[in-house]
Amino acid sequence: MGLQDRPIGVFDSGIGGLTVLKQIQKVLPNENLVYFGDTARVPYGTKSKKTIIRFSIENALFLLKFNIKLLVVACNSSSSYSLPSLKRNFKLPVIGVIKPAVEASVGMTVNKRIGIIGTAATMRSMQYPRQIKKINSKLIVKQKACPLFVPLAEEGWINHPITGSIAKEYLTELKKHRIDTLILGCTHYPLLYKTIKRAAGNSVTLIDSAYYTALKIKKALQKQKIDTKRKKKGICKYFVSDEPERFSRVGKLFLEKSPKGIKMVVTDA
Ligand code: DGL
Repeated sequence: MGLQDRPIGVFDSGIGGLTVLKQIQKVLPNENLVYFGDTARVPYGTKSKKTIIRFSIENALFLLKFNIKLLVVACNSSSSYSLPSLKRNFKLPVIGVIKPAVEASVGMTVNKRIGIIGTAATMRSMQYPRQIKKINSKLIVKQKACPLFVPLAEEGWINHPITGSIAKEYLTELKKHRIDTLILGCTHYPLLYKTIKRAAGNSVTLIDSAYYTALKIKKALQKQKIDTKRKKKGICKYFVSDEPERFSRVGKLFLEKSPKGIKMVVTDA
């Protein structure tokens, strides 16, 4: 198989990465994809740097068996810590979800005040503020961990009043800092887009890192001339590290269709 027709590998700590996969499928409909969700070890957002790096390397090793041409780290917590190790260990293009959102937010803010929300691990890594400041050190950057959003999204409590109250509580501090741009720095948050938007206020622009990551992948493929030339719609193979039933059921919320043909695998043996 020629390099162009090899699949793109995508991994996440579990189901959330399907929001990234959905955007990749929209932007690059003809590419073949292999998705791995580490459902046996989710969540990553509460884990340490060392553990997240170890899991991420194991996930990448699994995807490499499919002769992938590019690796996408769909998980924000994983992108926060594991990109240097993945790039050092594997000789293929690796794209995470942080840089695309950072670049979009810097281009978008008018009052130079950017907010970021994500898991505790992502916030602790300081990757978002660091990368924003690297582009423009004068920008004011504030972040807030919103760990309850992950279970609420998986529970499907998208428009539930409790989710609205929690969002208000989480965003109070960021609003005080008068941010005009807010990065959704977690795979699950696009599901809560409307609720977060209501709590953040109309004047705040939300940045969905999934969408900007898909655009970045497209550019990377074209630049290296490894985008598929096939005119046929691509397929996606799904793998998980725990029973597929929950992934299939909850995954429908994230992908807006049921992921099909999910196989369970063991990656850390
Ligand atoms: N995928 C994770 C992220 O984007 C959220 C779920 C988890 O904590 O593993 O950070």
